[in-house]
Amino acid sequence: MSTTTAHLFLHVIALTLVASCQTLNTKLPPQYFNPKLPLLPLSSSKRFEGSSNLVQLRYHMGPVLSSAPIKIYLIWYGRWPAAHQLLIKDFLLSISPTHSYSASPPSPSVSEWWRTVSLYTDQTGANVSRSVVIAGEHRDTAYSQGSHLTRLTVQDVIASAIRSASFQVDHKNGIYLILTSDDVTVQDFCRAVCGFHYFTFPSKVGYTLPYAWVGDSGKQCPEVCAYPFAIPSYMGSGGGGPKPLAPPNGVASVDGMISVIGHELAELATNPLVNAWYAGEDPIAPTEIGDLCEGLYGTGGGGGYIGQVMKDGAERSFNMNGRKGRRFLVQWVWSEALKACAGPNALNRR
Ligand SMILES: *[C@@H]1O[C@H](CO)[C@@H](O)[C@H](O)[C@H]1NC(C)=O
Repeated sequence: MSTTTAHLFLHVIALTLVASCQTLNTKLPPQYFNPKLPLLPLSSSKRFEGSSNLVQLRYHMGPVLSSAPIKIYLIWYGRWPAAHQLLIKDFLLSISPTHSYSASPPSPSVSEWWRTVSLYTDQTGANVSRSVVIAGEHRDTAYSQGSHLTRLTVQDVIASAIRSASFQVDHKNGIYLILTSDDVTVQDFCRAVCGFHYFTFPSKVGYTLPYAWVGDSGKQCPEVCAYPFAIPSYMGSGGGGPKPLAPPNGVASVDGMISVIGHELAELATNPLVNAWYAGEDPIAPTEIGDLCEGLYGTGGGGGYIGQVMKDGAERSFNMNGRKGRRFLVQWVWSEALKACAGPNALNRR
């Protein structure tokens, strides 16, 4: 459901990490343990990252985002530098496959990553759409609902956006993505979530519209929401701990947001009304395809380790390519076919 931080467990995990580092070090590079990931039992026979026969992802008969293209309506809430907007839009526009081969970003690509999401279907057999467009943008530079938002007032931001002339109510193919700038605080942000998705209520917005919110954590909690580009002090201090990875586009908080946006979009696409694909019995706290792989970015990941990712000539980490030569580091998503987390940079791809 939400990109959680499992804050309450951080200390427990920190202690466990200390306890298990020596064992892990013999098999894995010593760095980049994700404090967000619970330690998984390491098994040498494990074929795929995060693989588990215990995960009971189930389909609950509701719709998925199957009409093509998925139309994203972007709401920039607060003060957003143009360069950061462009970076996020380049990620969103990298999801769709390009038609001409020569224009395609090299593998592993963002559209290959979305391919795993597009394998989910509804009860009619319709797949999640492979193509995504930005259908509209609204800039709420006046902070119409103030500089602190709650889970409910986020819906007022959407309501105010759809009343503006340039924007649309699109209850057929539309999803609404609200991005808050680094000076906006949001209920549960940092403490419990880095992003969440849900749907709007007719009583608030007039329609039932799937939406997601993701915040820029830069001034609030980059070590939580932009990990591994920022590292909690208890891990990094003392010289011996891991160093933050260099973000692929040089902006830790926004590069970190991009993985959270990927997580929320993958879940929105497969569970837009929270009655389609999720694990667990509780629809109030469903575990969805992003949650199952949170903190996992490459082969070998698990047990708190993010997995093998790539580095460019400037030592910046990434695991997938996008349009215009952009690179991104985006978490993997659950593949129901593999019963494991999957990403395009997997080294054991079949
Ligand atoms: C749709 O999903 C099914 C089941 O995951 C998969 O076998 C099929 O290849 C998908 N179709 C497309 C067009 O992606």
